[in-house]
Amino acid sequence: MYGIWNWKGGVTKTSSTLNIASHMVADHGLRVVAVDFDPRSTLTRLAGLDPGALKPSQTMLGALLPEEYGAISARDLLREAPWGGHLLAASPDLAGAEPVLAELPGPHGRLRRALEEIREEADVVLIDGPPRTGKLAFNLMGACDGLFVPVALSYASVTSLERLFKTVRIFCEYEREVPVLGVFGTLARPTRHARETLVGLLDQLGELVVDVAVPNTVSVEDALVDGLAAWQLQENSLGARAYTELTNRVLQRMSLAGGVA
Ligand SMILES: Nc1ncnc2c1ncn2[C@@H]1O[C@H](COP(=O)(O)OP(=O)(O)OP(=O)(O)O)[C@@H](O)[C@H]1O
Ligand SMILES: [Mg+2]
Repeated sequence: MYGIWNWKGGVTKTSSTLNIASHMVADHGLRVVAVDFDPRSTLTRLAGLDPGALKPSQTMLGALLPEEYGAISARDLLREAPWGGHLLAASPDLAGAEPVLAELPGPHGRLRRALEEIREEADVVLIDGPPRTGKLAFNLMGACDGLFVPVALSYASVTSLERLFKTVRIFCEYEREVPVLGVFGTLARPTRHARETLVGLLDQLGELVVDVAVPNTVSVEDALVDGLAAWQLQENSLGARAYTELTNRVLQRMSLAGGVA
């Protein structure tokens, strides 16, 4: 299980989860479950669902808090998604889990426990996280065997990385080890600023930076309108090519970290 997470908003966590998941299915024949673990529920909306109309018993919230909603197996919540794999949906009600989790014992191991139910169903589980720290983000870290961090290639986005690493370090110290397996540039524009930002990122993080940056391109954005990966809209588009390569690198890093699943 792997998380795509950055506490910063709008850095393509959701788009990258969807595109990488889609390439894992189409190019590598893997069974992939993407977990929407953000109350904003973008990944769920992209699958054509109306998140506001979903009951807790139809989303990850139910599986996360059996005390509140009765025993719900994540396996029963799997839905087919337009990008080719399966989805565990979210709704805005997920935000309400934060204070409830704070009162429960072992609050950060909840997601891991809930996702154990789909171990047999999936070769890879990718979790799309919320753009903030807190109990949900800590549950994501508690569930993951490693994190991948999308970073928009702009100054503001890169400077926020320091806090991200600090948060992960604190989690590792107090809870469990969760390695950052890769940081990848996104929304890259053909500007000097983006190039210099990438060089700065490489200086700062070295081999942690994946050597594929995803360009800011229409193919990714337009495909998302139909909940699709860029390759499904246009096979040889810039976005499709970038995500093909990025997925290969992500899978390499996952297998070095102990394999898929
Ligand atoms: N490669 C790309 N080129 C152009 N636009 C993109 C690309 N990837 C994503 N986008 C657009 O950027 C916006 C932010 O993407 P996305 O929702 O995936 O980010 P996020 O990090 O999940 O955001 P949030 O923090 O709100 O969850 C969306 O409007 C999406 O359509
Ligand atoms: Mg998102």
